[in-house]
Amino acid sequence: MAVPVLVAVAWPYASGSRHLGHLAGAYLPADIYARYQRLAGNDVLMVSGSDVHGTPITVRADAEGVTPAEIVDLYHSEFCRQWELLGISWDLYTTTGTSNHASATQDMFMAHLSKGFIDKRVSEQFYDPVGERFLPDRYIEGTCPYCGFEAARGDQCENCGSTLDAVELIEPRSRLTGAVPELRATEHFYFRYSDFTEQVDSWLKSRQGWRAHVLNSSFGWTKEGLQDRAITRDLDWGVELPVDDLGEGKRIYVWYDAVIGYLSASQEWAARSGDPEAWKRWWHNDDAYHAYFIGKDNIPFHTMLWPAQLMGYGALHLPDDVPANQYVTFSGAKMAASRGVGLTISEGLSIFEPDALRYALAAALPEQADTEISVAEIARRINDELVATWGNLVNRVLSLAGSALGGAVPSPGERRSGDVELLSGVDDALQQEASCIQRVELRAGLRSAMESAAAVNAYLNSNEPWKLVSTDPDRAGAVLGTALEAIAGVRTGLAPYLPFSTTALDPLFGAVERWERPSLVPGKAIPKPSPLFAKVDVAALDLVAGDPR
Ligand code: MF3
Ligand code: ZN
Repeated sequence: MAVPVLVAVAWPYASGSRHLGHLAGAYLPADIYARYQRLAGNDVLMVSGSDVHGTPITVRADAEGVTPAEIVDLYHSEFCRQWELLGISWDLYTTTGTSNHASATQDMFMAHLSKGFIDKRVSEQFYDPVGERFLPDRYIEGTCPYCGFEAARGDQCENCGSTLDAVELIEPRSRLTGAVPELRATEHFYFRYSDFTEQVDSWLKSRQGWRAHVLNSSFGWTKEGLQDRAITRDLDWGVELPVDDLGEGKRIYVWYDAVIGYLSASQEWAARSGDPEAWKRWWHNDDAYHAYFIGKDNIPFHTMLWPAQLMGYGALHLPDDVPANQYVTFSGAKMAASRGVGLTISEGLSIFEPDALRYALAAALPEQADTEISVAEIARRINDELVATWGNLVNRVLSLAGSALGGAVPSPGERRSGDVELLSGVDDALQQEASCIQRVELRAGLRSAMESAAAVNAYLNSNEPWKLVSTDPDRAGAVLGTALEAIAGVRTGLAPYLPFSTTALDPLFGAVERWERPSLVPGKAIPKPSPLFAKVDVAALDLVAGDPR
């Protein structure tokens, strides 16, 4: 039976270019997983969008002297172009700026309010006496009370990942004016997350197969108890409140609304598909499976705060897995130091072909620990692994088969045990890869596909069909036919990782539609091969990138 699988992917702030670390952290793994699930016959709904609210946007707009809407439009269109170039296979990529999203957020707010999970409180919040305004969390910086990191933001410490309330910061300062902020009374709505500590804790304890670092950090927080948090802000940019009790100048807090995007985007997708109720198959269904692809700084929002919001609303499906990634660090950061961190996605795409970049990042996904990457390392993986093991294999078999077999796929001839072994090895590798991908062990999945490609190379080297062509043409045909079948199976295994070069082989093998080694059509013309990937010219790279090694 086809399982409705929700592939929920972190919503990037439309406040600046994203870098290769973001790509490896969330978007690429989500896409690999979604492509596999579709081939496995499941009903995938893969959604996300640009997060257009919050102080990351307004801080950036202030700095550039433009409106938040201008910043959002600029980066949202950049993101959309990049997803297209990278082949990220969204069912819907939208934004949190739609009226659909505002209604979904307001609906959840009203439900929480009527059930008593939201209440109004007067609190002391930081006010900038120079800028003459209340300061939302991100406008405040200071020292983290948990780890002592000096540049912690008012909402979260980037160093230890703790979520913070700005008033907890030691030696706070305003990012607007540098002034020491003072506390003044202001009224806000609070979500009573503390009501959910036990429910979230026991739900987390029932999770099976989750990454250890995700569970460990989550239990660290539930042990301290979830804290009630203000879910409105003194801002004029964000989802409007559905009640007017607080007066002007207040908006819903970005983290309360952004996570609701998973639900609102599912509803938007359904409305666009012509069946406005279709989202319920994923959200009102115990048999659905929800996987959330995020970076490690987003863990508490997805393992505790969003589940608490869902529990408070009721009847909606809770996360089944949150395979958060750790960070990718760039040793070649020097070359992009002027722009901050590592390579942006655009810079990556200006140096490498999309599939080649996908390959190198997939091979180094930070699934269990931070991984280090550089331009030189990406180039090495492309040349020494992708091109050497897979690109060249396809090229040499297609050229030889094209000339030796009269340009057509042969009928399967008499098979020897080595031939049968090769094909059953390819089948086993597909099974093994499938179970890796289901556990979101995508590096291991890729490794098993590449080992399968290596086995085809070894088979060719021991059978030497290029010699058999003149000495034993029948056997040459059987060996090349077997190699073609094996390649067709390896290609299925690589399809989730390498969508463009997979499609390039459609004329010979047909589109990859199922997770299987397809049978070939005897007599089908073997097209003249053109290389699947270009080798990276490492010498030329040094010129572009300085000396990344
Ligand atoms: N915009 C946030 C970030 O870039 C992620 C939001 S994920 C969501 O860190 F779940 F809240 F949408
Ligand atoms: Zn900290």
